[in-house]
Amino acid sequence: MNQTFIVTKEHRRFTEFANAVRKERTIGICHGDAGVGKTNSARRYANWDTLEPYINEWGPRGDHDAKHYALANRSRTVFYTPEVLCRPKDLMNDIDHWQAKVGICADEHLRSTETAPRIRAGGVAHLVELLIIDEAERLTPTGLELLRDRHDREHLSMILIGMPGIDQRFRHYPQLYSRLGFSHHYRTLGRDELLFVLDRHWKRIGRNLDPDDFTDAQAIAAIERITRGNFRLLERLLPQIARVLKINELETITDDVVEAAASILVIGN
Ligand SMILES: Nc1ncnc2c1ncn2[C@@H]1O[C@H](COP(=O)(O)OP(=O)(O)O)[C@@H](O)[C@H]1O
Ligand SMILES: [Mg+2]
Repeated sequence: MNQTFIVTKEHRRFTEFANAVRKERTIGICHGDAGVGKTNSARRYANWDTLEPYINEWGPRGDHDAKHYALANRSRTVFYTPEVLCRPKDLMNDIDHWQAKVGICADEHLRSTETAPRIRAGGVAHLVELLIIDEAERLTPTGLELLRDRHDREHLSMILIGMPGIDQRFRHYPQLYSRLGFSHHYRTLGRDELLFVLDRHWKRIGRNLDPDDFTDAQAIAAIERITRGNFRLLERLLPQIARVLKINELETITDDVVEAAASILVIGN
C-alpha cells in the first residue's frame, strides 16, 4: 500500500459511519464488493499503516514515540484481520494484545499532557474505543459470540467488515443481530471520482485527460464499463494500459487500448 491514499467520498462516508458506531457504542457492519476500498479506509481510519509497524517493533523507545502516542490517542482504534480458520482463543488473545498495546500508547500520550497522571481503573486497554474486524466472514460462531460478550462487558464499539451478504449471515445469530446498530454499504467509485483517479494516472504517464475530447470520452467509457468503479480493478487495469501503449509504441489511450489492456487481465463478472 505505497501509492497515495485518495480521500474519496466513500472514505468520508466510512469515517462518518465509524464515528457514529463509536459514539453510540454499538456494533456496525460494513459490507461491499471485493476491491472497493473497505480495508484501505478502515486502516486509514485507525492510522494502522503507522501504528501497526510501530507496535510490532516495540523496541527501545526513541524520538518518534510521542508522535505515535498522540496518533494512538487520537484514533483509539484497533484494526484486526483474523486468520482463515482462526481459533476463537487465538482471536481473543490477539485482540487483547492489540488493545493493550494501543491502550499503552494512548495512556503514554495522556500522561504527557496531564499534570497529575491518573490511575486508570480497569487498565489502559479500556482506552481503546473501537475494534474493527476486517474479513469478518472468517469468524466462527464461537468467535462472534466471544466478541459479542466483549462488547457487552466493556462497551467496546465494533465494526465488522465483510462481503455483501454478511449482514444476512448475522441474522442467524440473534444475540449478535439484536445488538447491531448500523449497517453500512461501501459503494464503488462514483463517476467524478473515477475521473479524478484517471486524471492523476494520465498525468503520471505524461498525458492529459479531457472528458470532452471524443477519444478520451470513449476511453473513459470503456474503463467505466470494465471496472464498474471498482478500485482494485482500476488499479490493475491502469498499469496494463501503460504497458499496451509502450509495447505498441502508441501515444493515445483509446478505447481499443483499454480493451486490449483488459483482455490481459482476468476480470470476473
Ligand atoms: N482511498 C484509496 N486511495 C487509493 N487507492 C485505493 C483506495 N482505496 C482502495 N484503493 C486501491 O484499491 C485496492 C483495493 O482496496 P481494498 O481496501 O483492499 O478493497 P476491499 O477491502 O474493499 O476489498 C487497494 O489495494 C488500492 O490499490
Ligand atoms: Mg478487504
